[in-house]
Amino acid sequence: MQRIAQDVYTGKLSGYLYDQRTYLQDSVYESFSRGSMIPDDIRADFPLLSKVCYLDSAATSLSPEPVLEAMLAYEHDFRANSGRGVHRLAQQASQKYRDAHVKVRKFIHADEGELVFTRNSTEAINMVASGLPWQKGDQVITTLLEHHSNLLPWMRLRDRQGIDLGLITPSTDGTLDPAALEAIISRKTRLVAVTQTSNVLGNVVPIREFAGICQDYGALLLVDGSQSVPHIPVNVEHLGCDFLCFSGHKMLGPTGTGVLYMKKSGLEPLLVGGGSVEQVTASGYTLTEGYERYEAGTPNIAGAIGLARAVEYLETLGMDDIRHHEQQLTRRIIDDLTGIEKVQVFGPGSEGDRIGVISFAIKGLNPHDVAIMLDGEANIMVRSGHHCCMPLMDHLNLPEGTVRASLHCYNTPEDADLFVDSVRKIAGDFKR
Ligand code: ALA
Repeated sequence: MQRIAQDVYTGKLSGYLYDQRTYLQDSVYESFSRGSMIPDDIRADFPLLSKVCYLDSAATSLSPEPVLEAMLAYEHDFRANSGRGVHRLAQQASQKYRDAHVKVRKFIHADEGELVFTRNSTEAINMVASGLPWQKGDQVITTLLEHHSNLLPWMRLRDRQGIDLGLITPSTDGTLDPAALEAIISRKTRLVAVTQTSNVLGNVVPIREFAGICQDYGALLLVDGSQSVPHIPVNVEHLGCDFLCFSGHKMLGPTGTGVLYMKKSGLEPLLVGGGSVEQVTASGYTLTEGYERYEAGTPNIAGAIGLARAVEYLETLGMDDIRHHEQQLTRRIIDDLTGIEKVQVFGPGSEGDRIGVISFAIKGLNPHDVAIMLDGEANIMVRSGHHCCMPLMDHLNLPEGTVRASLHCYNTPEDADLFVDSVRKIAGDFKR
């Protein structure tokens, strides 16, 4: 109790004071007594949670009111272009946009000049695929665990530029063994592209081991952090990657925002145009240095401001605490689901190194039907189908895909229990 009080009163949780209505000390204690460091009160910041049980955060998370308010403040108070004017609104917008860069950069412990805003992870990965100077004979290695966004850009590169594409296969529970990389990597391997966490099975991939192998062979490492950055503390220094991408909308931020971290710039920009140049004459141009080089055209200014506010919100909760909270809920759900006859849970077990993404099937029922029943009968939102991972579904021999429940900081034990009880009812097993 002592430590809780200290945390509450020494400021760790004081971020909730941002909006007084979200801060009720009693329920902070209530949450702690249930073993979580995340106060239930944050749910008031997500109005949709009073209407539905939201278990689809791997598809897109909800944005809290402070994020929406920050974006609205831009529209109401200082709407102007950034980096393109001297009047006071333009200066304010430019400053907020720069601040957003700094906030997000520091969140992953990147240095100045290493972070570019994109529309989403998909765009970030495409920027790398199209921006590196590939040579015939280069090899890219990726894995069957990947989202289509970390497969298609490399397949297209193979088809258009003749690079060799190597694929590592995970085990049936989604484990990616670094030895599998070691078996196919060579001096021809230019880049290894791998997810940090599976959006279907929830595994956390041992990226540091992958990074060590890449270093031994002089290969670049691209990490898809779309499902990791929103849920676990990520430090690019520790990961040892050359590129990291993630999407704002999965981390409480707005849709249409994303990030590409690159250790060394040197990529050819995907787009050129306004805002990305130092000098233009009738005969040519010189691109500017810094992130602007990669952000031609007016950026998503409100989105960047919202993303920075989302980062602040996550930091206030604490990424370690978010991870712990989600792990507890995940264990509860997996252990309970596993006890239901006719239900098969995929991925590593509840004690595995994993995030709060839980894929399962009910024997005899199509995953989409299960998702519709969960919605219709219990107001529960989950994703169903192949989750943009068709090759993985082929590998797991799941042609209809899975039902996937995915968590974020705002989910509670009550959500977990409602979900499990509803699955039990659908599976026709009422036994406890
Ligand atoms: N990539 C998102 C998902 O896994 C959309 O659902």
